[in-house]
Amino acid sequence: MRYRLFGRTGIRVSAIAMGTSSSGGGGWRGYTDMVADAIDQGINFFDTANIYGQDEERLGHALQELGRRDRIVLATKAEGPVRPDDPNGRGISRRHLIEQCDASLRRLRTDYIDLYQLHCSHGSTVPIDEPLRAMDDLIRAGKVRYAGASHYAAWQLMESLCVSRELRLNRFVCEQAVYHPLDRTIERDLLPFAQTYGHAVVLWSPVAGGFFNGKVKRGGRHRHIERVLKDRIDAGYEEDAERCRQRAHDLQELIIGIADEKGCTPTQLVIAWELDTPGVTCPIIGFKSPEQLRSAIAALDVTVTDNDRRRIDAIARPRQAIVPFNDAGGSPPLNADWGPHRYRG
Ligand SMILES: NC(=O)c1ccc[n+]([C@@H]2O[C@H](COP(=O)([O-])OP(=O)(O)OC[C@H]3O[C@@H](n4cnc5c(N)ncnc54)[C@H](OP(=O)(O)O)[C@@H]3O)[C@@H](O)[C@H]2O)c1
Repeated sequence: MRYRLFGRTGIRVSAIAMGTSSSGGGGWRGYTDMVADAIDQGINFFDTANIYGQDEERLGHALQELGRRDRIVLATKAEGPVRPDDPNGRGISRRHLIEQCDASLRRLRTDYIDLYQLHCSHGSTVPIDEPLRAMDDLIRAGKVRYAGASHYAAWQLMESLCVSRELRLNRFVCEQAVYHPLDRTIERDLLPFAQTYGHAVVLWSPVAGGFFNGKVKRGGRHRHIERVLKDRIDAGYEEDAERCRQRAHDLQELIIGIADEKGCTPTQLVIAWELDTPGVTCPIIGFKSPEQLRSAIAALDVTVTDNDRRRIDAIARPRQAIVPFNDAGGSPPLNADWGPHRYRG
């Protein structure tokens, strides 16, 4: 395993992180075995969220049973709805974040969370100083080590750094963003921002839900892609959605072809390509089996050449999206609010 500095913090995380929506078929026992396997293989970074069903509890149970909490960098998130009929049962208010931090600590069976993330931005309704102050209090109370965000625009993160400095609060150290060859839009501003300010960038759904492994071929419908295209289809732009699908399959076929030439799997090629992108810290992968775990780690030995990059760039243009996973107006949970708010100034 290789380890990478986590932005400008002093901690190091494995170049491959494990997403806890990974399930496999073995229930809680199988999940504990997978966590043990991941730690044995050198993975030390695990990501979950308060709204991922039983995932936090399963991870907490596994870590307690294995007695290896001290070995891992544990990340979770809050923002999503926990009580759908309660207007305060979601969001990034001080009230909700503190309540949910305590709930996550109970489920994870631990005294502290290494990285506590805002799952989504509510930019036009909640001034950034409110979640920053709540995060800072949680850090000072010893419940959280570092604060981060997900689905934030680069300008909002930049503003958060200014406000942290102004109010002398702990700053966000990490953004969890979507990035893979189907959506390269974070190359425009988030990655340059992260490189400039030493912000870690970790990738969610980094292998596009398995799209590149080719189980769903041209003519089929891949769940992850259809989720993003749903808005367009609902708005009557089926032709536009179909163009996206065709280009996605052009890219899938290219990646399968390059991977065949190199003797690796298409998913390994995508992981290696991401790890080679300046500004990216690591992908958080949802393995479904011990084989997928091992195969993802073996991607660390795959070299992406300039020629491979050029061929990928010819279809997946730099800074562009073939399928707009990162579009704030896309389907849940991508409905981030990147608007301005009234109270800043
Ligand atoms: N911040 C956010 O809002 C947000 C949103 C979504 C996810 N996440 C985080 O990102 C993590 C991963 O997301 P995800 O599971 O949705 O997406 P993902 O990692 O892109 O896709 C997982 C799928 O990829 C395939 N796969 C994984 N490893 C493979 C390998 N080595 N070889 C071949 N195929 C492989 C499997 O597909 P098959 O099942 O077809 O084999 C698996 O179901 C989550 O667990 C979570 O921690 C965060």
